Amino acid sequence: MKELYCFSGLGNSAAVARMLEEALPADFADPVWVFPVYAWGVPPIVVKAIEETDFSGKLVHMVCTCGSETGHIDRQWRRLVTSRGGMVGGIYSVIMPLSYICMPFMNTDPEKKVLRKLDAARARVQTIASCIAARQQTVDLTLGPCPGFLSRFVYPWFFNTLMKTRLFRSSQKKCRGCGLCASRCPNGNITMVDGRPQWGDKCTFCLRCYHSCPSHSVAYWRFTRKKGQYLHPDFKQVIKLSEK
Ligand SMILES: Cc1cc2nc3c(=O)[nH]c(=O)nc-3n(C[C@H](O)[C@H](O)[C@H](O)COP(=O)(O)O)c2cc1C
Repeated sequence: MKELYCFSGLGNSAAVARMLEEALPADFADPVWVFPVYAWGVPPIVVKAIEETDFSGKLVHMVCTCGSETGHIDRQWRRLVTSRGGMVGGIYSVIMPLSYICMPFMNTDPEKKVLRKLDAARARVQTIASCIAARQQTVDLTLGPCPGFLSRFVYPWFFNTLMKTRLFRSSQKKCRGCGLCASRCPNGNITMVDGRPQWGDKCTFCLRCYHSCPSHSVAYWRFTRKKGQYLHPDFKQVIKLSEK
């Protein structure tokens, strides 16, 4: 019986989890967690889920998806898993299209790069699946520059200081009041007030509201002006089907 746990804002990690589900042997019993890298660390929503999980006696594997680099996410993961009684299994990363656009110099990947990354990811996940199936305890991450500093110091600063839910807004001109941002929010953090979205304070910053708004009216202060939107192609289908 496979134990696959996944959090995904825009569908990248969900797509990787689906590929792993297919590639791992049917009787594979170790838990495998799949989620995106947020600010060189584990997304707060995943941290909370791990803190509520008992891993006693289990070998727990982790596959994270990232736009380019993971930092030392493995150190945080190791602390989280061992604090819940688990043993650390394989730790892997898969490079996927970038979703973080809340900085002036950051934008979504151009179409060609998206296709290139998705293509490379398919082969990468097959390799990872073989290592996990063999229960290897390998660390295979794309660390990037200054990984220790970014994960240790920038990660907490990012969530405690830089990202503020009150900076989300919807453009009065463009917003049609459809409420899809609210119904799609994985944390139930958006409510519609007088036909306009209002963000609460339990945001995990997955940016699904921004990327999946059909009128491109969600903004994160001025940083998302003229920025692109991205959803994994399979996730677009899932959204379409679930809302029919
Ligand atoms: C808040 C936030 C922070 C991110 N931080 C990083 C990062 O530190 N390094 C990186 O390579 N990608 C980063 N990304 C990009 C995502 O990790 C990447 O696009 C991931 O595949 C998204 O997965 P999902 O579609 O399952 O949510 C970040 C994305 C978001 C929304």
